Amino acid sequence: MDWMLQSALGSAINSLNLLQKEAKNGKKMNLWGWTSKTIGLASTESVYGTENPFKHEPELLDDFWCYEGGLIKLLMSNFPKFFAYKAHMARVKISSAMYSYYSRNGQEQASAFLQARHDVGRKNGVSLQGISSLELGDCLAVLVNTTPAVFWMIWHIYSTPVLLQELRNELTNVLRETIEEDGRHINLNVAQLKTKCPLFFSTYQETLRVRTHSAAHRWVMEDTLISDRFLMKKGNAVFMPGHLIHANPSVWGSDVNCFNPRRFMKAEGRIKVGSLRTFGGGKALCPGRHLATMKIMSFVAMMVVRFDIAPAGKGWIDPQSATGKMVSIVNPPASDIKTIASVREGYGDVQWEFEGVGEGRATDRFDVTLEGESVYSGKE
Ligand code: HEM
Repeated sequence: MDWMLQSALGSAINSLNLLQKEAKNGKKMNLWGWTSKTIGLASTESVYGTENPFKHEPELLDDFWCYEGGLIKLLMSNFPKFFAYKAHMARVKISSAMYSYYSRNGQEQASAFLQARHDVGRKNGVSLQGISSLELGDCLAVLVNTTPAVFWMIWHIYSTPVLLQELRNELTNVLRETIEEDGRHINLNVAQLKTKCPLFFSTYQETLRVRTHSAAHRWVMEDTLISDRFLMKKGNAVFMPGHLIHANPSVWGSDVNCFNPRRFMKAEGRIKVGSLRTFGGGKALCPGRHLATMKIMSFVAMMVVRFDIAPAGKGWIDPQSATGKMVSIVNPPASDIKTIASVREGYGDVQWEFEGVGEGRATDRFDVTLEGESVYSGKE
């Protein structure tokens, strides 16, 4: 995981340094468009390494979102070329880029995660073409949730100026400033984010709570009685919509419909650990959850300390989550929003770095607690 995180953050810092140059006098940008490119590149870099096909052909990321948007049509049709032409062509383009990646042995410079997948396929007689096509599943796992989670966390923080200010104050706990011969440097320690920035960690979890749209699906393997009340008959399918669990007032309290960034901070009123279902649970608990958490929190923390982002239009209007998604748990916005990014006053001359990757381990459980302090409605 450390290798993957390091490589994702390396790519992210390059994108943020570029934004620092472009945003000196304010840069107009579509927030989702920019986030999906930046996080898409960082996330795929962490899996595919230096030969990352998404870096060599940046338009592949647009193809990916076109493919993702057409998944339902692709799966429901026997003739995808006719009924889901764009998504079909995008899928063909990505799998052939993957084929060329494997043909030049790109996996040798990639993550252990990708190498293991490749080796299992080869050992079990899957052709290179087959492995390349299967990579589309990998891209879904790596991209579809992490990217929207970053977008929504940025949206929630910047649309609540009081919260933004509090987080900037708190994040100084993980910043280390030095003056070198070539000027001012500030390092952000990613290993300390969870422990030294409880409000920031809680804001991350609350973002996941309110933006989760999953519908976990399981087959009932044998008749099962739950709570002496609900009989699940063998052979049936069960759907468990995450957003219903996340909107249950008996679990989260009467402010369940508000975005409360303090909801997950340690306090007296404990609620059930495990009620946050964004990463699933049981046997299908997401194996990428720690990487995703570290990536999302590190990236957003760096944004918050370096940049101001203001809406270019009528204020921070919630673009709402897109619907009709097939695999994503955290859905992207239904429409993009125009923003203006600028470098924070007093920080234009700073050289920024991430540090602390590999120091200490991410905790395996989300410590879900209720504090019941001031509630943010999402706008100030
Ligand atoms: C915010 C980001 C993410 C969310 C919300 C998320 C959520 C989930 C959920 C809910 C599942 C279980 C699906 C089920 O019920 O069957 C899952 C599975 C999976 N996730 Fe994630 N995930 C995220 C990021 C990642 C990342 C970054 C990776 C890889 C680097 C990853 C790799 C996987 C894999 C391989 C599985 C399948 C596990 C299995 O079948 O046993 N995920 N994810």
